[in-house]
Amino acid sequence: MVWPDDPKAWLTAGTQICAFVAELDGVICGHVAVTRPKEGVAARAWAAELGAAVGDLLCVSLLFVDPQAQGCGVGRRLLDVAQAEILDRRAAPALEVVSLNTRAISLYEAQGWRRIGSVGYSWLPEPERSFLYVGPISTSARRPVNSRQQPAEGHRPASTGQPPMRDRPGMPG
Ligand SMILES: CC(C)(COP(=O)(O)OP(=O)(O)OC[C@H]1O[C@@H](n2cnc3c(N)ncnc32)[C@H](O)[C@@H]1OP(=O)(O)O)[C@@H](O)C(=O)NCCC(=O)NCCS
Repeated sequence: MVWPDDPKAWLTAGTQICAFVAELDGVICGHVAVTRPKEGVAARAWAAELGAAVGDLLCVSLLFVDPQAQGCGVGRRLLDVAQAEILDRRAAPALEVVSLNTRAISLYEAQGWRRIGSVGYSWLPEPERSFLYVGPISTSARRPVNSRQQPAEGHRPASTGQPPMRDRPGMPG
């Protein structure tokens, strides 16, 4: 795994609205943030597709799961929580994902996100693209019953010491 030189700065960019972490057995194993998009080609494309102003968009960002915890539903749970947060704020959901991130693309499409186009960036080697997605405007995601309500350094747990929600009987998947 390549970790940025300054992880704290990377995780707390100025455009961030809030963030959530997932815990398994008391250990943080995943992260997702909700951010405001920067003005630009991507934001204009999302806004046009959703019939929204750029200022009404919020993005799912910085979604990642510890490699040792991947494949257990944590990423899906984090995405659900971020998506629910965006809809609670009556904003329009958007995200972008580098074409190399095939697992993430599978996850987004399985959760009803729709690709609306792609953009190229100078930092992205050809032929890779950044795919633009818009999210569903309704969700079955529910707040975890065991969330701590108080943010810890701006990060809220998506699940606390419990297995991922989809592995728990009676919970939406
Ligand atoms: C993308 C990522 C967050 C998924 O987290 P995860 O906890 O492994 O995902 P889940 O276990 O919740 O799986 C949810 C879905 O992701 C997709 N997925 C997960 N592992 C996959 C794999 N090995 N191959 C293909 N798709 C996979 C599937 O659609 C899966 O649904 P399914 O279990 O019903 O088949 C994780 O792989 C990760 O951190 N990747 C590196 C960082 C990254 O690419 N972040 C996204 C940046 S935009």
